[in-house]
Amino acid sequence: MYNTKAYGVASASSPLASTTIARRDPTEHDVQIEILFCGICHTDIHTARNEWSALFPTVYPCVPGHEIVGRVTKVGSAVTKFKPGNVAAVGCLVDSDRTCPECHAGLEQFCPNMILTYNSPDKHLGGVTYGGYSGSIVVDERFVLRVPANLNLAGAAPLLCAGITTYSPMRHWGVSKDKKVGVVGLGGLGHMAVKFAHALGAHVVVFTTSPHKKDDALRLGADEVVVSRNADEMRKHASSFDFILDAVSADHDINAFILLLRRDGNLTLVGAPANPLPVAAMALLFARRSLSGSLIGGIAETQEMLDFCGAHNITSDVEIIPIQKVNEAYERMLKSDVKYRFSIDLASLKSE
Ligand SMILES: NC(=O)c1ccc[n+]([C@@H]2O[C@H](COP(=O)([O-])OP(=O)(O)OC[C@H]3O[C@@H](n4cnc5c(N)ncnc54)[C@H](OP(=O)(O)O)[C@@H]3O)[C@@H](O)[C@H]2O)c1
Ligand SMILES: [Zn+2]
Ligand SMILES: [Zn+2]
Repeated sequence: MYNTKAYGVASASSPLASTTIARRDPTEHDVQIEILFCGICHTDIHTARNEWSALFPTVYPCVPGHEIVGRVTKVGSAVTKFKPGNVAAVGCLVDSDRTCPECHAGLEQFCPNMILTYNSPDKHLGGVTYGGYSGSIVVDERFVLRVPANLNLAGAAPLLCAGITTYSPMRHWGVSKDKKVGVVGLGGLGHMAVKFAHALGAHVVVFTTSPHKKDDALRLGADEVVVSRNADEMRKHASSFDFILDAVSADHDINAFILLLRRDGNLTLVGAPANPLPVAAMALLFARRSLSGSLIGGIAETQEMLDFCGAHNITSDVEIIPIQKVNEAYERMLKSDVKYRFSIDLASLKSE
């Protein structure tokens, strides 16, 4: 066991503050990684503030962060895929039981015994797992990803959650050329969704509550931008979408978007607002529309996504910040004021 510097929260109402956490010494299958960059996901905020307390209560202290890119510093004797000096990445998952049907299908994110990167039981040290707002992490090599060499590391970090969470449902629902695809909410997830839908050849429409994001949306790959609070603009797109990805973090009216789906169209929720969202049955009944959800992606698909990003030169648009600005970053995200992901430069942790 060794200690590493970190930033964490002591309770649902505390700010993030400097702390020290323990990490296990690498076992034979483990990779030890010095963390270089960690993206800030809205899930970090929901968890730090215990906003999902009913289904997924937060255990304190909590060290968030699951968009991790770093450099390998040590490997266990049985590790074959990594050696010291390699760039390596870790997303939302650090373990699973490896034996259930979901694991066999490469869908570790649905394993009943999956271990999330933070706020899951830590079978090695007891307590809970701690995430990427820290100096280093130790992870079984099966859950460590490779980053294509051409990608900027600060911009690659958010691919590990925002990237896979938007890529996976688009592949599942067949987003491709000639499909009309909507993306609701131009935040961290939303801006990655726009890049992927565009790269997959779809006609992409962004729905935003922030009119000033229009030019950015077009630059990111959107073909059209709709201000979702404008009912006339919304009506023009009635019954026309094959697929809509909803990446909104707060309460909003999903029926307005369901009505924009064509026959057999699908709206997938990836955003996870704290409160239930009311659904109008009639909006689904007519035109046999469907509503579904999607959770990150499995390890093999995460590597596929990273390789896709390497081939298409896709990274997240990031604002790099020192860890000392993380509380300010949370407040800005809550005001939709981020272009389009904060990426923490963990070198800043050394001065703590
Ligand atoms: N399913 C999964 O596996 C998974 C993975 C990661 C994250 N998530 C969840 O996905 C959600 C988004 O995460 P994120 O990191 O992308 O968050 P984010 O960067 O904060 O973006 C959220 C966006 O939602 C829109 N929005 C915010 N408040 C709104 C409101 N009241 N009404 C309508 N739109 C609003 C804003 O876009 P505009 O300014 O364009 O309107 C905002 O930029 C969070 O709930 C997060 O927990 C789920
Ligand atoms: Zn996330
Ligand atoms: Zn399993």
